[in-house]
Parts: sequence; structure tokens; C-alpha cells
Amino acid sequence: MKRSHWTGNIGFILATAGSAVGLGNIWRFPYLVGQNGGGSFLLLYLICALGLGYFLLTAKLAFGRLAATNIVDGFDKTMRQSGKKPNRLWGLCTGGLAVFNGVLVSSVYVVVIGWTLLYVFESARLLFHIRPVALDSDFFTRVTDSFGMQLFWGFLCILITVFVIARGVKGGIERLSRILMPALFLLLLFLLGRILMLPGAFQGMTFFFTPDWGRLGWTEAGFDFKVFADIFLAALGQSVYSLSIGIGVIYIYGSYLSPKTDIIRSAGWIVGLDIFVSLCAGLIVIPAVFAFQAEPASGPTLSFITLPMIFAQMWGGAFWFFLFCVLLFFAALTSLVSIYEPLVSLLIDKTRLTRTAASMTIGLLNTLGTSVILASFTGVMTLPGLKKDLFTLLDALTGMILMPLMALITSLFMGFVISTRLIRSLENRGQPLNHTFKRYIRFTLRFTAPLVMMVLLLTALWTFIND
Ligand code: ALA
Repeated sequence: MKRSHWTGNIGFILATAGSAVGLGNIWRFPYLVGQNGGGSFLLLYLICALGLGYFLLTAKLAFGRLAATNIVDGFDKTMRQSGKKPNRLWGLCTGGLAVFNGVLVSSVYVVVIGWTLLYVFESARLLFHIRPVALDSDFFTRVTDSFGMQLFWGFLCILITVFVIARGVKGGIERLSRILMPALFLLLLFLLGRILMLPGAFQGMTFFFTPDWGRLGWTEAGFDFKVFADIFLAALGQSVYSLSIGIGVIYIYGSYLSPKTDIIRSAGWIVGLDIFVSLCAGLIVIPAVFAFQAEPASGPTLSFITLPMIFAQMWGGAFWFFLFCVLLFFAALTSLVSIYEPLVSLLIDKTRLTRTAASMTIGLLNTLGTSVILASFTGVMTLPGLKKDLFTLLDALTGMILMPLMALITSLFMGFVISTRLIRSLENRGQPLNHTFKRYIRFTLRFTAPLVMMVLLLTALWTFIND
């Protein structure tokens, strides 16, 4: 079957930025900044995203373009292109891991995107005075206690995703991103303008931009490595998650690229847009929290409990909160769609299923996964031997263990097995690459990325076992 391609560079950049920009930027990033000392976290996050994330993203796009096939067969094919003897083990291990990880990540993702869609609906009711009471913490508790309500909203999101994915790369993913991404940028700037006009917002901006050296480990007693390592690993994990590295998405989006695309420049746009959205989201949430003297370190509930209460105190707050919820939903939808694509493409290649049937199969798996997670999260089902619910457990397992593991394996493959051909493929229209760039990317793939991923993985594993 003929392989799909993006219609052009803008469509590709918007779709890949759509995958990167998601709950990670608008829900996770602001609460991590709040929990980890504001500017200190921002500084480390920027170092990880620009010094490591950009290069991994560039290499993964190039790997995907060279392979131009699904994630299992891509390893063999690029080994052959590099004159090496193919080894099925690479593809089977990584492909298997990508499928396992993709199903788990999407199942956890659907829980949160489901809350987001419910909040779009409820904030619209609030806006039109159909809902009498604000979306307070009691409401959120009622939502998270209800298996049926969460499954209903999550399932709606799955249906929308299956519908988009079934329409293909151009007609589904690219078209959705071409509509939602510009809308998302507009909403973001609109909200940012409103929040930064709040009296007291400046204090939040100061917190956001000023590094707290104590949180970076420089205490009066000297340098505390443990303090530094905790915040560094949080920033590293966030940059991997936010750039969709370690779920096969960047690879598969790269596999639809034309040989003419300048990957180095496009990756710059994608990482730039991802960082820009995180910065804007942080500058919306943190100054709002400071302006209303709320707690910046309140964690994952920041967007769903703290923010609605803040917006409720603001003039025209119902309108602004509705916009915020729509923004969150748009960002999450383009990411969920991208998480499906490596799985759907693999299923199409390996079975006789059509794209529609493959999309529905992944949707079904996703529904099953989310149902089990929700059953454990709401206490409908208890799993013997587990100290935490499946939502909390799998969120940590996917983000801190499986995604770094996948990034570790593919970095080693790209760095040691196919690096010469991969780096050469980055040359744009025959222009030789800058020597320092070549050396840096090779070093990153061979040493920096595997090392930091290994540290992240082992630390997370240690916490996971001991918690
Ligand atoms: N990159 C996606 C996000 O940040 C997974 O939500």
C-alpha cells in the first residue's frame, strides 16, 4: 500500500507540534513549576529541552524518514540501508515496548482529557448561567469518585480520536492540527493578556522567572546533590514527556516526511513552539495563583480545583475559565490522536485491517485500558498487593520508566548502529552539516541521552519499588 505523506512543511510542523503540545504543557508544566521552586525548574527544563530534547527529536524524525515504515520493521530496514546485518530483536523489543507503552499512555491520558472535556461542558453551563455553583473542590471530588461519569467523558474523547485517526494522515491528523493549533495559539495569547493585567500578577512572574538556588541544591551547608537530582530528574522527565519522546510518535510522524524537508530547522520550530506554549501556560497559571494568594504547589489538581476557584473571583471569570478549558482540550486532543498513530500504522502493516478497523481496534483497547484504570482509581475494583491506584501507578510507570526506556534503546540504536547514515540524511539539499553539530548529535545519541535516561529510569524504578 502506498505510504501517506504530509501535504507540506507547515502541516507537518503543526501536527508534530500538536503532538508535543498537550496536557504536559498546560496541565503538568505549571504544577511542576509550582511544586519545584518556579524559576529553578524552568531553568533546568529549558536546558533539558534545548540541550537534549531538541537533538533526540531531530534524530527520531530522521530515523523515521529513513525507515518510512512501521516501528517494528524500521530497525531492520535502516540496518540494511547502513550495510549492517539486520537483527529482528531491535524491532521486536522496541516495537513491543512501543505498543505496550502506547496503550498504557493513552489509557492514562484519556482519564485526564475526559476531565478536560467535562470541564469544557460544565464551564459553558456556568457561562450561560445554567450551572448555579462554581466548579469547586467538591465537584472535582464527585467527578473523580464516579466511575461512570469519567468513563463517559473519556469514551467521548476516544470516539473523537478514532474518528480523526480513521480519516488518515492528511485528512485526519494534519487537518485537525491545521485547525486546532492556530486556535490554541490565539486562545493562549488572549488568556495571557488577561492574566498579566491582574494586580499581583507581577509577583507570580517573578516566581516563574527567578531561580531559587536553594532548590537547585546550593544550600548554606554546601551543595546538596540529592536536592539537585530530584529537580533535575523532574525537569528531564517533563521534557521527554512534553516532546512526545519514547512513544514512537516522533518516529512515525517522521516516516511520513518527504526527503526534501529540512528536519533540523523544522525540529527547531517544533521544540520552539512546545517551549513557547509551556512558557505561556506557566505565565497564565502561576501569576493567576499569586494574584489570588492561592497555593502554587498544590500539584495535579491545580488546573481542576485551584484555577476554577481563582477564575470564579475574577471579573468575567466564567468566560476566561471556559477559554482555558477549551485550550486544554484542544492541546490534549492533538496529542491523544498522535499517540494512536504508531499503533494504528503497525496494525495496518501487520494485519489485513483497514485504517478504520485498525483505529477502532486501538480505540477498543484504549477503552478497556481506561476502564480498568478508572475501576481502580474510583475503588470499584481493588488489586491485591498494590499500594496505589492504577492511575497514579501507571502515570509514573509510563512517564518515568517506559518512556525513558524506549528513548534509551532508540538512542543507542541511532547512535551506535545507524548514526553515519542518519546524520548524513540530515543534510539539507546536499549542504554539508556543521562539524560541531554532527559531533554534538552523535555524542548525545551515544552517551548523554543513554546516560541520563538510565539515571532517570533507575531512580524512578527505585522510588517505584520502595514506595
Ligand atoms: N507530548 C504530549 C503532552 O505533552 C504527550 O501531553
